[in-house]
Amino acid sequence: MSPAQAPPVAVVTGGARRLGRRLCSMLAARGYDLVVLYRTSEGDARSLVRELETAGRRARALAADIGVERDVAAVFDDVAAAEGRVDLLVNNVGNYNPQPVTRLDPAGWDATLAANLSGAFYCCHHALRLMPDGGNIISIGMAGLEGIRANVHGADYYVSKTGLLVLTRALAKAHAGRRIRVNMVSPGQLENSVDLPPPDAIGKWVPLGRAGRLDDVAQAVGYLLDASYVTGVNIDVSGGYRL
Ligand SMILES: NC(=O)c1ccc[n+]([C@@H]2O[C@H](COP(=O)([O-])OP(=O)(O)OC[C@H]3O[C@@H](n4cnc5c(N)ncnc54)[C@H](OP(=O)(O)O)[C@@H]3O)[C@@H](O)[C@H]2O)c1
Repeated sequence: MSPAQAPPVAVVTGGARRLGRRLCSMLAARGYDLVVLYRTSEGDARSLVRELETAGRRARALAADIGVERDVAAVFDDVAAAEGRVDLLVNNVGNYNPQPVTRLDPAGWDATLAANLSGAFYCCHHALRLMPDGGNIISIGMAGLEGIRANVHGADYYVSKTGLLVLTRALAKAHAGRRIRVNMVSPGQLENSVDLPPPDAIGKWVPLGRAGRLDDVAQAVGYLLDASYVTGVNIDVSGGYRL
Protein backbone atom coordinates (compact mmCIF):
# COMPACT_ATOMS: atom_id res chain seq x y z
CA MET A 1 0.00 0.00 0.00
CA SER A 2 1.45 3.43 -0.93
CA PRO A 3 1.65 6.12 1.79
CA ALA A 4 -1.19 8.00 0.05
CA GLN A 5 -3.51 5.02 0.59
CA ALA A 6 -2.46 4.29 4.17
CA PRO A 7 -5.08 5.09 6.83
CA PRO A 8 -4.60 8.53 8.38
CA VAL A 9 -2.98 8.62 11.83
CA ALA A 10 -4.39 10.60 14.76
CA VAL A 11 -2.55 11.39 18.00
CA VAL A 12 -4.86 12.26 20.92
CA THR A 13 -3.46 13.65 24.18
CA GLY A 14 -5.22 12.55 27.38
CA GLY A 15 -6.95 9.97 25.20
CA ALA A 16 -7.47 7.11 27.67
CA ARG A 17 -10.52 8.40 29.55
CA ARG A 18 -13.58 10.65 29.41
CA LEU A 19 -13.72 13.08 26.45
CA GLY A 20 -10.39 11.98 24.97
CA ARG A 21 -11.54 8.36 24.89
CA ARG A 22 -14.79 9.29 23.16
CA LEU A 23 -12.86 11.28 20.55
CA CYS A 24 -10.55 8.31 19.92
CA SER A 25 -13.56 6.05 19.27
CA MET A 26 -15.14 8.61 16.94
CA LEU A 27 -11.88 9.01 15.01
CA ALA A 28 -11.48 5.24 14.69
CA ALA A 29 -15.00 5.06 13.26
CA ARG A 30 -13.92 7.69 10.71
CA GLY A 31 -10.99 5.52 9.61
CA TYR A 32 -8.10 6.89 11.64
CA ASP A 33 -5.41 4.72 13.20
CA LEU A 34 -4.82 5.96 16.74
CA VAL A 35 -1.90 6.82 18.97
CA VAL A 36 -3.42 7.34 22.42
CA LEU A 37 -1.28 9.42 24.78
CA TYR A 38 -1.83 8.99 28.51
CA ARG A 39 0.04 9.94 31.66
CA THR A 40 -1.20 7.68 34.49
CA SER A 41 -4.25 5.78 33.13
CA GLU A 42 -2.35 2.83 31.70
CA GLY A 43 -5.16 0.30 32.24
CA ASP A 44 -7.74 2.52 30.52
CA ALA A 45 -5.33 3.20 27.67
CA ARG A 46 -4.71 -0.51 27.14
CA SER A 47 -8.41 -1.36 27.21
CA LEU A 48 -9.07 1.41 24.67
CA VAL A 49 -6.36 0.05 22.37
CA ARG A 50 -8.00 -3.42 22.54
CA GLU A 51 -11.39 -1.84 21.79
CA LEU A 52 -10.05 0.07 18.77
CA GLU A 53 -8.23 -3.01 17.46
CA THR A 54 -11.43 -5.04 17.80
CA ALA A 55 -13.11 -2.35 15.70
CA GLY A 56 -10.50 -3.05 13.00
CA ARG A 57 -8.11 -0.15 13.51
CA ARG A 58 -4.42 -0.04 14.38
CA ALA A 59 -3.89 1.59 17.76
CA ARG A 60 -1.08 2.10 20.26
CA ALA A 61 -0.88 3.73 23.68
CA LEU A 62 2.18 5.73 24.74
CA ALA A 63 2.88 7.29 28.13
CA ALA A 64 4.12 10.86 28.43
CA ASP A 65 3.86 13.87 30.69
CA ILE A 66 3.15 16.37 27.94
CA GLY A 67 4.29 19.23 30.15
CA VAL A 68 7.84 17.87 29.81
CA GLU A 69 9.29 18.65 26.39
CA ARG A 70 11.70 15.70 26.29
CA ASP A 71 8.78 13.30 26.93
CA VAL A 72 6.87 14.82 24.03
CA ALA A 73 9.90 14.70 21.72
CA ALA A 74 10.40 11.01 22.60
CA VAL A 75 6.75 10.18 21.89
CA PHE A 76 6.83 11.81 18.46
CA ASP A 77 10.20 10.15 17.66
CA ASP A 78 8.43 6.87 18.42
CA VAL A 79 5.51 7.84 16.15
CA ALA A 80 7.98 8.84 13.41
CA ALA A 81 9.55 5.38 13.59
CA ALA A 82 6.30 3.37 13.86
CA GLU A 83 3.54 5.26 12.03
CA GLY A 84 5.77 7.67 10.07
CA ARG A 85 3.19 10.50 10.02
CA VAL A 86 0.63 12.45 12.01
CA ASP A 87 -2.44 13.48 10.00
CA LEU A 88 -4.35 14.79 13.02
CA LEU A 89 -3.27 16.01 16.45
CA VAL A 90 -5.97 16.47 19.09
CA ASN A 91 -4.78 18.53 22.07
CA ASN A 92 -7.31 17.29 24.60
CA VAL A 93 -5.38 17.57 27.90
CA GLY A 94 -6.80 20.29 30.10
CA ASN A 95 -6.42 20.27 33.89
CA TYR A 96 -9.00 22.38 35.71
CA ASN A 97 -8.10 23.72 39.10
CA PRO A 98 -11.07 25.77 40.30
CA GLN A 99 -9.50 27.37 43.37
CA PRO A 100 -9.62 31.14 43.93
CA VAL A 101 -6.83 33.15 42.34
CA THR A 102 -5.98 34.50 45.81
CA ARG A 103 -4.91 30.97 46.82
CA LEU A 104 -3.18 30.00 43.61
CA ASP A 105 0.50 29.31 44.27
CA PRO A 106 3.38 29.31 41.75
CA ALA A 107 3.59 25.51 41.71
CA GLY A 108 -0.10 25.20 40.82
CA TRP A 109 0.21 27.90 38.18
CA ASP A 110 3.27 26.23 36.62
CA ALA A 111 1.61 22.79 36.58
CA THR A 112 -1.52 24.05 34.80
CA LEU A 113 0.36 26.12 32.26
CA ALA A 114 2.82 23.28 31.61
CA ALA A 115 0.12 20.68 30.91
CA ASN A 116 -2.54 22.80 29.22
CA LEU A 117 -0.52 25.30 27.20
CA SER A 118 3.19 24.47 26.94
CA GLY A 119 2.28 20.79 26.51
CA ALA A 120 -0.05 21.60 23.63
CA PHE A 121 2.66 23.74 22.03
CA TYR A 122 5.24 20.95 22.38
CA CYS A 123 2.80 18.51 20.77
CA CYS A 124 2.07 20.91 17.89
CA HIS A 125 5.79 21.57 17.38
CA HIS A 126 6.70 17.89 17.16
CA ALA A 127 3.54 16.75 15.32
CA LEU A 128 4.00 19.40 12.62
CA ARG A 129 7.32 17.89 11.54
CA LEU A 130 5.43 14.63 10.79
CA MET A 131 2.29 16.22 9.36
CA PRO A 132 1.67 16.02 5.61
CA ASP A 133 0.01 18.86 3.70
CA GLY A 134 -3.73 18.89 4.44
CA GLY A 135 -3.32 17.73 8.07
CA ASN A 136 -5.29 18.99 11.06
CA ILE A 137 -4.71 20.20 14.60
CA ILE A 138 -7.74 20.49 16.86
CA SER A 139 -7.39 21.76 20.43
CA ILE A 140 -10.03 21.49 23.12
CA GLY A 141 -10.74 24.81 24.79
CA MET A 142 -13.42 26.17 27.07
CA ALA A 143 -16.59 28.00 26.02
CA GLY A 144 -16.69 31.78 26.35
CA LEU A 145 -12.98 32.38 25.82
CA GLU A 146 -13.52 35.22 23.37
CA GLY A 147 -15.28 37.15 26.15
CA ILE A 148 -12.12 37.08 28.34
CA ARG A 149 -14.30 37.33 31.43
CA ALA A 150 -12.88 37.82 34.90
CA ASN A 151 -12.96 34.43 36.64
CA VAL A 152 -11.89 34.48 40.27
CA HIS A 153 -11.83 30.67 40.25
CA GLY A 154 -9.57 28.75 37.88
CA ALA A 155 -7.61 31.74 36.55
CA ASP A 156 -4.67 29.50 35.63
CA TYR A 157 -7.02 27.32 33.56
CA TYR A 158 -8.60 30.26 31.71
CA VAL A 159 -5.20 31.80 31.02
CA SER A 160 -4.01 28.47 29.60
CA LYS A 161 -7.10 28.03 27.39
CA THR A 162 -7.00 31.63 26.16
CA GLY A 163 -3.33 31.16 25.33
CA LEU A 164 -4.24 28.00 23.44
CA LEU A 165 -6.73 29.98 21.35
CA VAL A 166 -4.04 32.56 20.51
CA LEU A 167 -1.68 29.71 19.56
CA THR A 168 -4.44 28.10 17.46
CA ARG A 169 -4.95 31.26 15.42
CA ALA A 170 -1.23 31.88 14.94
CA LEU A 171 -0.58 28.31 13.77
CA ALA A 172 -3.64 28.41 11.49
CA LYS A 173 -2.24 31.43 9.67
CA ALA A 174 1.34 30.17 9.62
CA HIS A 175 0.52 26.72 8.17
CA ALA A 176 -2.36 27.58 5.83
CA GLY A 177 0.07 27.52 2.90
CA ARG A 178 0.35 23.75 3.41
CA ARG A 179 -3.45 23.45 3.86
CA ILE A 180 -2.86 22.41 7.48
CA ARG A 181 -5.94 23.57 9.39
CA VAL A 182 -5.73 24.49 13.07
CA ASN A 183 -8.94 24.90 15.04
CA MET A 184 -10.45 24.73 18.51
CA VAL A 185 -13.60 23.16 19.95
CA SER A 186 -14.74 24.53 23.30
CA PRO A 187 -17.19 22.65 25.53
CA GLY A 188 -19.16 24.46 28.23
CA GLN A 189 -20.65 22.35 31.01
CA LEU A 190 -20.34 18.68 30.06
CA GLU A 191 -22.34 15.97 31.82
CA ASN A 192 -19.13 14.80 33.54
CA SER A 193 -18.05 18.31 34.66
CA VAL A 194 -16.69 18.55 38.20
CA ASP A 195 -18.82 21.63 38.91
CA LEU A 196 -22.02 20.80 36.99
CA PRO A 197 -25.07 22.63 38.40
CA PRO A 198 -27.99 20.39 39.49
CA PRO A 199 -30.47 19.49 36.68
CA ASP A 200 -33.13 21.94 37.93
CA ALA A 201 -30.59 24.83 37.85
CA ILE A 202 -28.74 24.10 34.63
CA GLY A 203 -31.04 26.32 32.54
CA LYS A 204 -29.82 29.33 34.52
CA TRP A 205 -26.33 28.80 33.09
CA VAL A 206 -27.01 26.98 29.84
CA PRO A 207 -29.73 28.56 27.68
CA LEU A 208 -30.38 25.30 25.81
CA GLY A 209 -31.24 23.77 29.19
CA ARG A 210 -29.02 20.71 29.42
CA ALA A 211 -25.42 19.72 30.03
CA GLY A 212 -23.27 18.89 27.02
CA ARG A 213 -22.65 15.29 26.00
CA LEU A 214 -19.31 13.88 24.87
CA ASP A 215 -20.99 13.21 21.52
CA ASP A 216 -21.82 16.91 21.11
CA VAL A 217 -18.09 17.66 21.23
CA ALA A 218 -17.21 14.70 19.00
CA GLN A 219 -19.72 15.97 16.42
CA ALA A 220 -18.00 19.38 16.26
CA VAL A 221 -14.59 17.74 15.90
CA GLY A 222 -16.01 15.65 13.05
CA TYR A 223 -17.39 18.79 11.41
CA LEU A 224 -13.97 20.47 11.53
CA LEU A 225 -12.34 17.44 9.92
CA ASP A 226 -14.77 17.72 7.01
CA ALA A 227 -14.78 21.53 6.76
CA SER A 228 -11.86 22.04 4.39
CA TYR A 229 -12.38 25.85 4.17
CA VAL A 230 -12.41 26.44 7.94
CA THR A 231 -9.26 27.32 9.87
CA GLY A 232 -8.33 29.42 12.90
CA VAL A 233 -11.80 29.19 14.47
CA ASN A 234 -13.09 28.32 17.91
CA ILE A 235 -16.46 26.55 18.04
CA ASP A 236 -18.29 26.80 21.35
CA VAL A 237 -20.20 23.56 21.89
CA SER A 238 -21.98 24.72 24.97
CA GLY A 239 -25.72 25.17 24.56
CA GLY A 240 -25.13 28.91 24.78
CA TYR A 241 -23.07 28.79 28.02
CA ARG A 242 -21.59 32.23 28.79
CA LEU A 243 -23.48 33.96 25.96
N1 LIG B 1 -15.45 18.06 31.37
C1 LIG B 1 -15.95 19.28 31.11
O1 LIG B 1 -17.05 19.67 31.56
C2 LIG B 1 -15.18 20.25 30.24
C3 LIG B 1 -15.71 21.53 30.02
C4 LIG B 1 -15.01 22.42 29.22
C5 LIG B 1 -13.83 22.04 28.65
N2 LIG B 1 -13.32 20.79 28.87
C6 LIG B 1 -12.05 20.45 28.24
O2 LIG B 1 -12.18 19.20 27.59
C7 LIG B 1 -10.93 18.49 27.67
C8 LIG B 1 -11.17 17.10 28.25
O3 LIG B 1 -11.83 17.23 29.49
P1 LIG B 1 -11.92 16.00 30.51
O4 LIG B 1 -12.75 16.48 31.64
O5 LIG B 1 -12.29 14.77 29.76
O6 LIG B 1 -10.38 15.93 30.93
P2 LIG B 1 -9.72 15.22 32.22
O7 LIG B 1 -10.42 13.96 32.50
O8 LIG B 1 -9.57 16.21 33.32
O9 LIG B 1 -8.23 14.98 31.68
C9 LIG B 1 -7.98 14.25 30.48
C10 LIG B 1 -6.67 13.53 30.59
O10 LIG B 1 -5.59 14.46 30.60
C11 LIG B 1 -4.47 13.70 30.98
N3 LIG B 1 -3.41 14.58 31.52
C12 LIG B 1 -3.50 15.51 32.47
N4 LIG B 1 -2.29 16.10 32.66
C13 LIG B 1 -1.44 15.53 31.79
C14 LIG B 1 -0.08 15.69 31.49
N5 LIG B 1 0.70 16.60 32.13
N6 LIG B 1 0.49 14.92 30.53
C15 LIG B 1 -0.26 14.02 29.87
N7 LIG B 1 -1.57 13.80 30.10
C16 LIG B 1 -2.14 14.55 31.05
C17 LIG B 1 -4.95 12.71 32.02
O11 LIG B 1 -4.39 11.47 31.63
P3 LIG B 1 -4.19 10.23 32.66
O12 LIG B 1 -5.58 9.90 33.12
O13 LIG B 1 -3.55 9.20 31.81
O14 LIG B 1 -3.30 10.74 33.78
C18 LIG B 1 -6.47 12.74 31.86
O15 LIG B 1 -7.06 11.47 31.72
C19 LIG B 1 -10.00 19.35 28.53
O16 LIG B 1 -9.15 20.12 27.70
C20 LIG B 1 -10.95 20.25 29.29
O17 LIG B 1 -10.36 21.48 29.66
C21 LIG B 1 -13.98 19.90 29.64
